[in-house]
Amino acid sequence: TEWRMKFRREMNQRDDEANTKAIDSLINYETVKYFNNEPHEARRYDAALRGYETAAVLSQVSLSKLNIGQGAIIAVGLVLNMLLAAKGVQDGNMTVGDFVLVNTYLLQLYMPLNFLGFVYRQIKQSLTDMERMFSLLDVDKEVEDKAGSAELACSDAAIRFEDVKFSYNPDREILKGVSFEVPAGKTVAVVGPSGAGKSTLTRLMFRFYDVSAGRITIDGQDIRDVTQNSLRREIGIVPQDTVLFNDTIAYNISYGRPGAEQSEIEEVTKLASIDGFIEGLPEGFKTKVGERGLKLSGGEKQRVSIARMLLKRPKIMIFDEATSALDTRTEKDIQQALRDVSRGHTTLIIAHRLSTVIDADEIIVLRDGQVAERGRHQDLLSQEGLYAEMWAQQQELREAEELLAHAGEIPG
Ligand SMILES: Nc1ncnc2c1ncn2[C@@H]1O[C@H](COP(=O)(O)OP(=O)(O)O)[C@@H](O)[C@H]1O
Ligand SMILES: [Mg+2]
Repeated sequence: TEWRMKFRREMNQRDDEANTKAIDSLINYETVKYFNNEPHEARRYDAALRGYETAAVLSQVSLSKLNIGQGAIIAVGLVLNMLLAAKGVQDGNMTVGDFVLVNTYLLQLYMPLNFLGFVYRQIKQSLTDMERMFSLLDVDKEVEDKAGSAELACSDAAIRFEDVKFSYNPDREILKGVSFEVPAGKTVAVVGPSGAGKSTLTRLMFRFYDVSAGRITIDGQDIRDVTQNSLRREIGIVPQDTVLFNDTIAYNISYGRPGAEQSEIEEVTKLASIDGFIEGLPEGFKTKVGERGLKLSGGEKQRVSIARMLLKRPKIMIFDEATSALDTRTEKDIQQALRDVSRGHTTLIIAHRLSTVIDADEIIVLRDGQVAERGRHQDLLSQEGLYAEMWAQQQELREAEELLAHAGEIPG
């Protein structure tokens, strides 16, 4: 039984592999089609299934061999015993009654033994099947609440990053000592090239990871000293990649605060300028959005995501390139609405388009995990550094976009 467990393990592993491949290629079906790779995916799945087949057959054959082996041993033993007993009767040492008695005893002994062997193998096999689940339970959480940590007492929500260092992998530091402050009720923008570590800041604030050095505080409390639950309650985010649940638009918006009233949902859809779009849909709020929201355009998804965040009514708001997929005009509408709702809220904006952060109380330019420049829009322009350079580049882009927008206004 111990010997055959390796076949069973192999079989489970192949089963896992085949399932993962199937799900992966189905979820990413658009990519598969873009690259015309259906045959490739089919081959990969086929290979995984073939591996599973081989392992499953081996597992079953080994089980049958064991069962047959055990049955054979018992049968041979029974026959030998009966022969001995028959000989006893023949020699006159035993009566026919004794012969029957021996037979009954043996059967009573062998039946449970046979059954025991069978059950043992089944149990052993089921335990092997559950091994992966148990190993999952053994994995340590990356971030744990400290014993007896308090709730976050968040009154006006001032955020401080103090010399924060962080790396996902020990051999590559992403943040190399970042310090800045978002005073209560103010708006701070973080800009910088892609890969600078901007989204990493948001993950640290949510404590998906803990900092490796330095600290992050909210109202003076180190976020490592408070419960994750109370911390996440106070922060609302519009993430860089919005992923929606395969349910209705109403469900996805109300995800921000399950149990919210329909009137509240309608209010936030107005703020996120998605009310017009929803009204135009034949099924309105009941429209299904598809897996991960693939039936909505990038900009529509972002606006659902903004509405969902607004519904949560957090003290701290984070926008991670929240309007990057919108055209300039829709973006302007939303920006105005967001400025209104975020007034008085501590707000962290991560932006790619610099025109959206002109009014920020402070702009942090992040480069290679370090604060390269900081200040207000005008100061940064006069510094003629990275920010001014990015601004000049985007200015050209914006002019082109405006031309396009005007072209759209010309009738016909
Ligand atoms: N989970 C992760 N594991 C390892 N590296 C990561 C992970 N997430 C992001 N990174 C790396 O960290 C760097 C910063 O990422 P990110 O903060 O998302 O950049 P951005 O400034 O564009 O938002 C990138 O170089 C990225 O490759
Ligand atoms: Mg990012």
